[in-house]
Amino acid sequence: MSQISSSAIIELALNLAGSLNTKDRFDRLLDTVRKTIVCDAVALLSYHGDILKPIALQGLSRDTLGRRFSVAEHPRFTVLCQSKSPIRFAADSPLPDPYDGLLDDYTGDLPVHSCMGLPLYYDDKLLGLLTIDSLTPHIFEDIPKRTLEVISAMASATLNTAFLIEQLENQADHSKRVVTELTEEAWKRDGGELIGESQIMQQLKQEIDIVAASDFNILVYGETGVGKELVARTLHHKSLRKNGPMVYVNCAALPENLIESELFGHVKGAFTGAEKKRAGKFSLANGGTLFLDEIGELPIAAQSKILRAIQSNEIQPVGQDNVEEVNVRIVAATNRDLKEEVKDGRFRADLYHRLSVYPIRVPKLQERVGDVQLLSGYFVEQTKQKLGITQLKIAAEAISHLEQYSWPGNVRELEHVISRAALKARSRQKHKTIIAIESADCGSLNMVSSETNLPIKERNMASVEFADINLRDETDRFQRQLISKTLTQEGGNWAAAARRLTTDRANLNRIAKRLNIQVVKSVIEN
Ligand SMILES: Nc1ncnc2c1ncn2[C@@H]1O[C@H](COP(=O)(O)OP(=O)(O)OP(=O)(O)O)[C@@H](O)[C@H]1O
Ligand SMILES: [Mg+2]
Repeated sequence: MSQISSSAIIELALNLAGSLNTKDRFDRLLDTVRKTIVCDAVALLSYHGDILKPIALQGLSRDTLGRRFSVAEHPRFTVLCQSKSPIRFAADSPLPDPYDGLLDDYTGDLPVHSCMGLPLYYDDKLLGLLTIDSLTPHIFEDIPKRTLEVISAMASATLNTAFLIEQLENQADHSKRVVTELTEEAWKRDGGELIGESQIMQQLKQEIDIVAASDFNILVYGETGVGKELVARTLHHKSLRKNGPMVYVNCAALPENLIESELFGHVKGAFTGAEKKRAGKFSLANGGTLFLDEIGELPIAAQSKILRAIQSNEIQPVGQDNVEEVNVRIVAATNRDLKEEVKDGRFRADLYHRLSVYPIRVPKLQERVGDVQLLSGYFVEQTKQKLGITQLKIAAEAISHLEQYSWPGNVRELEHVISRAALKARSRQKHKTIIAIESADCGSLNMVSSETNLPIKERNMASVEFADINLRDETDRFQRQLISKTLTQEGGNWAAAARRLTTDRANLNRIAKRLNIQVVKSVIEN
C-alpha cells in the first residue's frame, strides 16, 4: 500500500470545502478513504459517553445506522476508544467483531479478515471513530503510518466541523423559535384582535387581509390612539413573514446622534463607546417586518439613510466598509399628515412615495358607528381580568353616555376611561360580587358640539378673529401651553402629566419634543 498521495489530500480538502451539507461532507470523506485504502467497509461513528453512534457508512447494511453500540459491550471498540493512535487488529484476533453479520458482501460470521480503527480526537477530546474493514486478511498491514495519520486528521476535522455546525444550527433554530414566540406574544398581549364591526372597520380589516400577504411597504396613518400599532402588528401576523421577527422602532425616541447606529448597527470601535459589534434594527428585522413607528418625527438626514436602505435592500453598519444585504418589509406609522409634511419640506417626497405603496388609514373612533359599545365590552373584560374582579359589567346608560362623546384620544382614551371607571366602580361597590360601571364612574367627558365637533370649552374660539390665523401654529401653541401648565402642576412628573392629559408618557414626550418643551425639575434644598 502506498503513501496517501498529495493529490488525494488536496482533492479531499476541496471536496470537504465544497460540501453542501453534513451528510455530503461525510460521504465525501468516506469516498476518499475508500479511494486511498482498498477495503470492503468503512464507517464513521460519533462518540457519546459510552455509546458509539454510526453517522455515515459504506459497505455495511443500512440498519447499522440505527444501531447504538455500547462501548463496554464491544471489546474492539473499547480498545479503540482507549487508544490515542490507529489500531490494526490481528487477522485472527479472538475479539468479537461488532460488524459480524453486518457487512453487505458477506452473510454469517466474519471469517479471518482485516480490521482497523482510527480514534478521532480534536483538542484532546475523543469525538468518534473511523473503522475500516476488509475481507482480505493482512491487507492493511503495510499502510504507512503517515497515511493513517492524515486520514485521522481529516476525519477529526470533518467530525468537529459537523458538530460545530450542528450546534450553530441548533442555536439559530432556537433563536428563531424565541423570536416567533416573542412576536406572537407581543401581538397577543395587545389583545391581538381588532375589535369593531362598523362598516368602516370592516373595510379596514378587508384592506389588511388584501395587503398583508403582499410584500408591499405599508404606511399606516391616523390620529393618535386609533390603533395604528395594533394594525401594524396585525399586518405582520397575517403576512408570510409571520414567523419572522417584527422589530419595533420608535422614530421619535431615536437619539439624533445614534440614529444611524441604531438602525444599521456598528462595528467595534466605530465611535467612542462602541465597545463591541452591534446589529441594528434593519438586521434584526431580516426576514421579518420593521415597524417604523412615528415615522413623521424622523429628521431629514435620517430619512435619506432609510430611503437608501429601502431602495437597495442593503445597509452599511457604521464603521464597516462593505454593505450587507437585508430582506425587510417596512410598515411605518404616523399621526401626521405626511403629504402636508412633504409640502412643507419636513418629509422627503421620495421616501413618502416608497413607504406609501399601500397607505392604510385607521379611522377615528368617532367614525366607527356602533363600535364604542363593542370596544367598551372588550375593555371591560380586559380590565376585569387585570383587576381580578369576579364580575364586571357596564350599565346601558353608561354606554350611551360614552357614545355621545367625541373621543379625541380615540380608542386609547376609551381604554383609559374604562380602566378608571372600573376602579371607581369597585371602590363604590366594595362588597358586591357583580360590580357595575355607571356613567358617573366615567367622569365628565368633554362633551362636543355636533356643529363644530370641538370640545365645548373651545367653542368660544369661534368669536376669535380668524384673519391670518394658522391652524397648525395655533394648535401647537395651545398644546404647548396646556402641556407646560400640566407639567408644572405635576411638578415635572411626565407620567402624572400624561395621565392627566389622558395620553401615554411616550406620546406626551414625543409631542413635547416636537414642540420644544423642556421641563427642568427644581430641587428645593432645606
Ligand atoms: N380596534 C381595536 N380593538 C382593540 N383594541 C384596540 C383597537 N384599536 C386600538 N386598540 C387598543 O388601543 C390602544 C391604543 O392603540 P395603538 O397604540 O395601536 O394606537 P396608535 O394609533 O398607535 O396611537 P399613537 O398614535 O398614540 O401611537 C392599545 O392598547 C390598543 O391595543
Ligand atoms: Mg402608536
